[in-house]
Amino acid sequence: MSILFRSLSKFLPRLRSITVLSRPLSVQSSVDPDEVNRFRQLSSSWWNETGEYAALHSLNQLRIPFVREQLLQSSTQTNDVIKPLKGFKLLDVGCGGGILSEPLARLGASVLGIDAVSENISTARFHIEPSLKHNLNYKDVTLEELCENVEHIEKYDAIIASEVVEHINDVDSFIGNIGKLLKPKGLCFITTLNQTAASYFLGVIAAEYIFRIVPPGTHTWNKFIRPSDLVILFEKNGFSVLVNNGMVYNPITNRWSWSTSKAINYAICAAKN
Ligand SMILES: C[S@@+](CC[C@H](N)C(=O)[O-])C[C@H]1O[C@@H](n2cnc3c(N)ncnc32)[C@H](O)[C@@H]1O
Repeated sequence: MSILFRSLSKFLPRLRSITVLSRPLSVQSSVDPDEVNRFRQLSSSWWNETGEYAALHSLNQLRIPFVREQLLQSSTQTNDVIKPLKGFKLLDVGCGGGILSEPLARLGASVLGIDAVSENISTARFHIEPSLKHNLNYKDVTLEELCENVEHIEKYDAIIASEVVEHINDVDSFIGNIGKLLKPKGLCFITTLNQTAASYFLGVIAAEYIFRIVPPGTHTWNKFIRPSDLVILFEKNGFSVLVNNGMVYNPITNRWSWSTSKAINYAICAAKN
C-alpha cells in the first residue's frame, strides 16, 4: 500500500502539470504548475514599472549591457552603431510580458520570446511597438515543446533564461534542451537566485513580506540553485562557463549593481562547446 502511495504521489504532480495549460504537455516538462499559476495571476502587471515587476524592469540596467557585450565579444561581425545586435538570433525563454525581449529587439536582434503562460504571451504581444514587429515574436510554448521540432529550427546565437530557473522543474534537462537549440559556440545567459541563508532572509522573507518587492509566495527557496551547482550542470551538458558574476539589488533606490558576492543574485554566461 505504501509503495502504491509513493508511486502515486510521484505521479500526481505530473498529472497536474499536464492539465495546467490549455494543451497537453509532455511529461518531461520543466513547467511547475504552482509556479506558472502565480505568474498567470499577474499577467496584466508586466508593464507597470512600479508594480510587482519593478525589480525586473530595473534589472535591465545590468542584463541588457551584459548580454550585448558578451554577444559582441563572441562575434567577429562588424557591429551596426545604432542596432549593435543586428544579425543575432536570440531566444528569451520564460519571457513573461517581454520586459527583456523588447529592449533586445530594439538593439536590432531577431528575438523570439516564449513562455509557458499564454496570458503572458498575450500581454507581450499587445505591448510590441510597430517598429519591432518585424524582428520580435512571441510564442506560447515551453522550451521542451520547441525542442520537439529542433531539426526544423534554425539554431540560436544565444538563449536567455533570466529569473526563470528558480521557477522550473529539472534544471539539468532544461540546460540540455537549451544546448539542443543553440548554434555551436552559442551563448546561454541565466540570471537567478543562490540557495543561501541570505537569499532566504533577504530574497524571500524581506523581498516578499517586508519590502513587498514581489508578491508573497513568488519564490520557493528550495528551488534556488547554487552557482557552483549551475556550473556543474552547464559543464555536464557541454558548455563552458565564461562569466559568473554576483548581482546586488537595492530595494530603496530600485537599482542593481554587479558585485563580487553571489550570496543572493547572480548571472552566468556559458558558451556551448
Ligand atoms: C520571474 S518571471 C521572468 C520573466 C522574464 N524573463 C523577465 O525577467 O522579465 C519567470 C517567467 O518564467 C515563466 N516560466 C516559468 N516556468 C516556465 C517554464 N517551465 N517554461 C517556460 N516559461 C516558464 C513564467 O511564466 C514567468 O513568465
